[in-house]
Amino acid sequence: MDLLQAASEAYEKAYAPYSRFKVGAAIRTPSGAVYQGVNVENVAYPEGTCAEAGAIAAMALAGDREISEVAVIADATAPVPPCGGCRQKLAEFGKGDVKVTMYTLSGEKLVMTLAELLPGKFTAEHMKD
Ligand code: THU
Repeated sequence: MDLLQAASEAYEKAYAPYSRFKVGAAIRTPSGAVYQGVNVENVAYPEGTCAEAGAIAAMALAGDREISEVAVIADATAPVPPCGGCRQKLAEFGKGDVKVTMYTLSGEKLVMTLAELLPGKFTAEHMKD
């Protein structure tokens, strides 16, 4: 399945009545499976969740544990990068060379790796004595 198409389909279903900023995400795993996510906002604003987090939850529920590719789409003038928290969430399951492609609805795109998006990431190594 085309990852841009999967993210675009998801985008339509985003629940963003407060920011009015809909985001769709799609994750591919090494097996070829694709998981979609949308942002889901809440009237208690901090309780809202990002599209990437939704896609990660769908992936985990299906039993997959590795991200090989990510696509994110939003209606913005420039491609929208994952927020800081989502970078750490994506890095939990994806190696540094995983490509994250960010799209606008008008077809602009920006490709960055997870390592570029989250240099100096916190890892389990940091918790060792
Ligand atoms: N948002 C995402 O879903 N993913 C991102 O990568 C950036 C921001 C959402 C959160 C919130 O619902 C809306 O966009 C505005 O911040």
